[in-house]
Amino acid sequence: MFKVPPISAERLPTLLRAMPKAELHIHIEGSLEPELIFALAQRNELTLPYASVEALRSAYAFTNLQSFLDIYYAGASVLLHEQDFYDMARAYLGRAARDNVLHAEIFFDPQTHTARGVAMETVINGLYRACEDARRELGISATLILCFLRHLSEESAFETLEQAMPLLDKIVGVGLDSSELGHPPEKFARVFARCRELGLHLVAHAGEEGPPAYIWSALDVLKVERIDHGVQAVYDAALMQRLAQDRIALTVCPLSNQKLCVFPNLADHNLGKLLDAGLAATVNSDDPAYFGGYMNENFTQVFAATGLTAKHAYQLAFNSFEASFASNADKRVWEHKLKETFERCVEHDY
Ligand code: ADE
Ligand code: ZN
Repeated sequence: MFKVPPISAERLPTLLRAMPKAELHIHIEGSLEPELIFALAQRNELTLPYASVEALRSAYAFTNLQSFLDIYYAGASVLLHEQDFYDMARAYLGRAARDNVLHAEIFFDPQTHTARGVAMETVINGLYRACEDARRELGISATLILCFLRHLSEESAFETLEQAMPLLDKIVGVGLDSSELGHPPEKFARVFARCRELGLHLVAHAGEEGPPAYIWSALDVLKVERIDHGVQAVYDAALMQRLAQDRIALTVCPLSNQKLCVFPNLADHNLGKLLDAGLAATVNSDDPAYFGGYMNENFTQVFAATGLTAKHAYQLAFNSFEASFASNADKRVWEHKLKETFERCVEHDY
């Protein structure tokens, strides 16, 4: 195991920004900045119920997950054409690369678009082309994860999978998102079983607002490989042990948790507790355009608020590569770059 060199508190934010990392929990529709929402509305000749970018941004005051989702789905309604999906994803990948994200696994919500008459291939082809161009132009690696909306029916999820079948080579896995309370993972047991047979990777949101029981059923019924959020696991000691033992990664999103009032203050966030209990936690941005920060803001703000250390930083970045669905060869290259960044930090090389 790499021995993390001593790094002063003043140097820590610089290190957090410079260190290579993977983002494993980003909803691409949640990267739509108000400026892009307005530009796309104009290009597509749509009228928004907000007079200006500032008026839209001032509506971003959330009290819980549902209060956010209502605005998030309204924002996504400006996406109509393949180029719209391309522009959104390409903008995100450019921003992520500036935060030294080497690899991103990008969630998208096709039902939000197909329900408005947008074809599945329009969505996937636009996003996929942005991933390919970003790899060539920026050297960032990016893959796609199709998320089923859990407030909709099992039948709708199966229909969505059917629509995606001809495009399965363009996605690496499936996830489960949207309104958690009242929609337990087991509602989607059969769809996930089918996706597993198809060789797709499986993840699910669980324990964001919902109880530890939802994390258990995501693991034991859906058989997911990672838990998105999972911060409610701390209320169940047996679950904590299971997550640590099986090295199940949690894709934690500090600023999202703060903005959706999962914790009263960022200083109350339990990221340090999860790491110190031996869980494979990672840091991610969730919906950065709505929650006030991309990857590096999530890192610097949660570290400043909770007093995490350089050791935690190394563990978080290492976990992000390890928990990704990338090849072992890519993981080794990224982990080597991570060590180098820590060593160069001590030498004041940046
Ligand atoms: N969709 C977009 N962001 C989400 C979140 N934080 N939880 C559940 N569904 C989401
Ligand atoms: Zn999420």
